[in-house]
Amino acid sequence: MRIEGSVVLVTGANRGIGRSLLSEFLGRGAARVYAAARRPETLEKPAAGAAGRVIPLALDLTDPDTITAAAEAAPDVTVVVNNAGAHGVGHLLDMDLGLVESVMETNVLGTLRVMRAFVPVVERNGGGAVVNVISIGAFGATPALGGYPASKAALHSMTQAVRQDLAPRGISVHAVFPGPVDTSMLDYVIGHEPTFGDFPRATPAEVARATLDGLEAGEPDIFPDPFALEVQAEWRADPQALQERLSGIT
Ligand SMILES: NC(=O)c1ccc[n+]([C@@H]2O[C@H](COP(=O)([O-])OP(=O)(O)OC[C@H]3O[C@@H](n4cnc5c(N)ncnc54)[C@H](OP(=O)(O)O)[C@@H]3O)[C@@H](O)[C@H]2O)c1
Repeated sequence: MRIEGSVVLVTGANRGIGRSLLSEFLGRGAARVYAAARRPETLEKPAAGAAGRVIPLALDLTDPDTITAAAEAAPDVTVVVNNAGAHGVGHLLDMDLGLVESVMETNVLGTLRVMRAFVPVVERNGGGAVVNVISIGAFGATPALGGYPASKAALHSMTQAVRQDLAPRGISVHAVFPGPVDTSMLDYVIGHEPTFGDFPRATPAEVARATLDGLEAGEPDIFPDPFALEVQAEWRADPQALQERLSGIT
């Protein structure tokens, strides 16, 4: 997949991994990046050289009308990056069910809505790619993390299904499985479960670089940091041992 000259949508582009993905796409010569955020006023001002190539878009994963409007406002997209996501800690059997619902609604149904709205756009433009930012949590449950690992496992499964459907239509579908990354999402988790701070963390910039390396190399499954690569190896060797290890990680 050639990034130079592509037209990209990045959701959750205002902070964390999404902000780093935005600048990495610009650095690698994307013609234009639609920077989607539920509150576009929170997007960083683009650097002087990139100003004309960044287009802010309002997009809330839980509000289907904003997704439809975004797809209409961005008719030239060829690469869709589903990065935005939400977390909600707690134990599934006794935490606020509304928090579980909102994580599922955001990470699973919201991402599916974006794919349904933007795949026809990419197809009209001659094909391209969909990149879904998932998590190593898709490979094993962590009891203290509420519906988050379940949402990422569901997103992994959806990604596999959509990958098969889109292969003959000229659209490659990539899954990204980061380990813990130094963003406010991880701060939120550590705030509730301090032991998560003991695990190695990648930087958002490192994850963005490895994600685009994987996309350019055409890798279907991208493990963008050293810890994620360890998880991949362990999952292949001994999924049960990995499940035990993941009981302490995002
Ligand atoms: N950090 C980690 O350890 C880690 C590890 C593995 C995977 N990931 C995944 O990486 C992705 C990015 O996370 P991050 O670490 O960069 O977290 P972050 O700093 O908390 O950023 C989350 C982003 O998602 C956006 N978002 C949340 N709910 C949304 C909604 N309903 N509609 C639109 N945007 C919404 C947020 O927008 P607002 O600013 O408006 O809230 C923000 O831009 C997520 O999918 C996350 O699950 C993170």
